[in-house]
Amino acid sequence: MNIEKLIRDVPDFPKKGIVFKDVTPLLANRKALVQCADQLAALSPNDIKIDKVIGIEARGFILGGMIAERLGAGFVPVRKKGKLPSEVISKKYGLEYGEDTLQIHTDAIVAGEHILIHDDVLATGGTASAVCQLVEELGGIVVQCNFIMELDFLKGRDHLITNVASLINY
Ligand code: PRP
Ligand code: MG
Repeated sequence: MNIEKLIRDVPDFPKKGIVFKDVTPLLANRKALVQCADQLAALSPNDIKIDKVIGIEARGFILGGMIAERLGAGFVPVRKKGKLPSEVISKKYGLEYGEDTLQIHTDAIVAGEHILIHDDVLATGGTASAVCQLVEELGGIVVQCNFIMELDFLKGRDHLITNVASLINY
């Protein structure tokens, strides 16, 4: 089925002039949800066993978990500052205005593990790039960053040194 039709354009969200790509209709459709998870798992390089899938808070959690299940991998959340309870490492990343911080548990990845990073959208690449750096600091090997959709005109891919895959390109 055509999952692109289930991504809704919401004008002027979160602020005037921005057209927000809303994935909630896709997530709510059981066939589309399963198809997305199957396709994203299939995009993972098939010659490398993925040890852990990282989902990036918040919208990367949903399909991140489903991809992990399909690949027989563990799931690791990367969260915004102050949400993870145990020892963390942190990375600041740029937003359109200002900056934010992402964190991962220091024991979430064992050095040498093969990691797949998932998020819903690749825009400027600031978020995914920060997560790549967190994984590398813990000695993990980023095999791929995959996304439901990629906003090509923002060239986020250029900020990611790893393999990048998306189901939809705008
Ligand atoms: C959005 C989106 C990606 C990120 C992409 O998340 O879900 O995570 O921005 O942007 P970038 O490539 O320019 O860094 P957001 O920070 O709005 O938070 P949410 O997922 O918790 O809603
Ligand atoms: Mg997000």
